[in-house]
Amino acid sequence: MLGAIVLAGGESKRFKSAKPKVLHDACGRLLIGWSLDALANLPQALRPSKVVIVEPPGVTISAQLQRWSSSFEIVSAIQRKPLGTGDAAKVGLAALKKCEEVVVLAGDAPLIETGSVAKLIKRRRSASAGASMLIAQLQDPTSYGRVILDTSRRATSIVEHRNATPEQREIREVNASVYAFDSHALRRALARTKRDKKSGEYYLTDAVELLGGAVVVTGSSEEVLGTNTRIEFATVLEILRLRIVHKLMDNGVTVIDPASVWVDVDCVVGRDTIVHPGTRLYGQTTIGASSEIGPDVSIFDSSIGRNTTISYSVVRGAQIGNGCDVGPFASLRQGTVLQNNSKAGTFVETKNARIGTGSKVPHLSYMGDVEIGKDANVGAGSITCNYDGASKHETHIGDEAFIGSDTMFVAPVKLGKGARTAAGAVVTKDVVEGDLVGGVPARRLTTGYKSPTRRKGPKSPKRKNTK
Ligand code: UD1
Ligand code: CA
Repeated sequence: MLGAIVLAGGESKRFKSAKPKVLHDACGRLLIGWSLDALANLPQALRPSKVVIVEPPGVTISAQLQRWSSSFEIVSAIQRKPLGTGDAAKVGLAALKKCEEVVVLAGDAPLIETGSVAKLIKRRRSASAGASMLIAQLQDPTSYGRVILDTSRRATSIVEHRNATPEQREIREVNASVYAFDSHALRRALARTKRDKKSGEYYLTDAVELLGGAVVVTGSSEEVLGTNTRIEFATVLEILRLRIVHKLMDNGVTVIDPASVWVDVDCVVGRDTIVHPGTRLYGQTTIGASSEIGPDVSIFDSSIGRNTTISYSVVRGAQIGNGCDVGPFASLRQGTVLQNNSKAGTFVETKNARIGTGSKVPHLSYMGDVEIGKDANVGAGSITCNYDGASKHETHIGDEAFIGSDTMFVAPVKLGKGARTAAGAVVTKDVVEGDLVGGVPARRLTTGYKSPTRRKGPKSPKRKNTK
């Protein structure tokens, strides 16, 4: 049986964080989640059946990784004291008694690729070696363990940066902290490791030497990068970000300025959508085909349809249909639903707002706890007064209603189909279908009001965010 250990104990001293560094968000995934992904993407024959998360006491990292439990069993092993990677591996191995073979990964190196893990497993098996390890050549190997290779490119030992002599520091081959071991051999070697004189820790790297060395697989200089400090973390995030953005582009999305676009790993963007500079898509956001997003748009956990345009806006927890137009400078908050061909325009804020098909809220409005029917028009500056200081109340605006500029809806209030308000109306009572109301507080001005007939002119073209 093949098992795996993901090292996530330790104190994250250099990261200077109140929580373990492996729980920080890395492009929409926990930092440690990327290591689990690398294992989960292995072909069935090479995939571990059990993955042990070595974690510090008091935090339950493993409990936050259950989304991978369909790929393998995930178990927790608590490392009581942060006594080093050697001690952590020992703690992990104790939970893998039935496994003859074990893969060890660091939880703080998210760029590791599945292909390299597969090669490591195969390389060890084919060489019948006690250990195989992933190495890479780095331009700047500072802070990494240096790998001492013999003439046949077998690793004989690993020297940590702080213990390395000036000559050893010249070595550019570094240890990625990704290994495959014969479990029994590893167990025996770990039992013989001694505390490092300088740090007082047990080093997993010492076990490699005690095993008589390891066969090596050489990975890319990117995939071995770790996140010991916030600066290293930023470097790694940048690579993850670009990988995700390039994948979108490979799938037919135009990204105008990849350097300024952030997309979380679980976001989906349809073909021929144009993503303008400064766009950030977070969480479980999906965007349909042929839409235009940005510039300067942040979208969190929302779904956006096809042919929709959003510029200079913030969208959170919203559902936006096809052919909608949002912004510039709109803030669409939790529970906003824009049905097809509707609009939330300049300086418009919405919350728990359902805006019906073809309805428009073009300028300077707050629409909260509101349901607007179809083909309604809300004039500039109109707002819902949804909060009376104690509770929130709802406003209902019927189909084809026409709201004069600067109308206030003192909720709870309902307007019937085709209802009209005059500019500056403060609506405190329900308005029946077809009535025109105005004044403060608003009273009926006309019944069955007929709106001025629209002059038929050329339709203004749909705005495109080409610049
Ligand atoms: C380690 C390697 C180094 C390698 C580098 C690659 C050792 C001694 N050194 O150094 O050769 O180049 O990774 O990134 O192994 N951890 C525990 N318990 C502990 C200490 C650490 O579980 O007591 C976990 C950490 O959460 C981390 C991983 O082990 O995920 C590696 O530990 P870290 O302290 O980051 O080791 P490095 O100094 O980076
Ligand atoms: Ca590290």
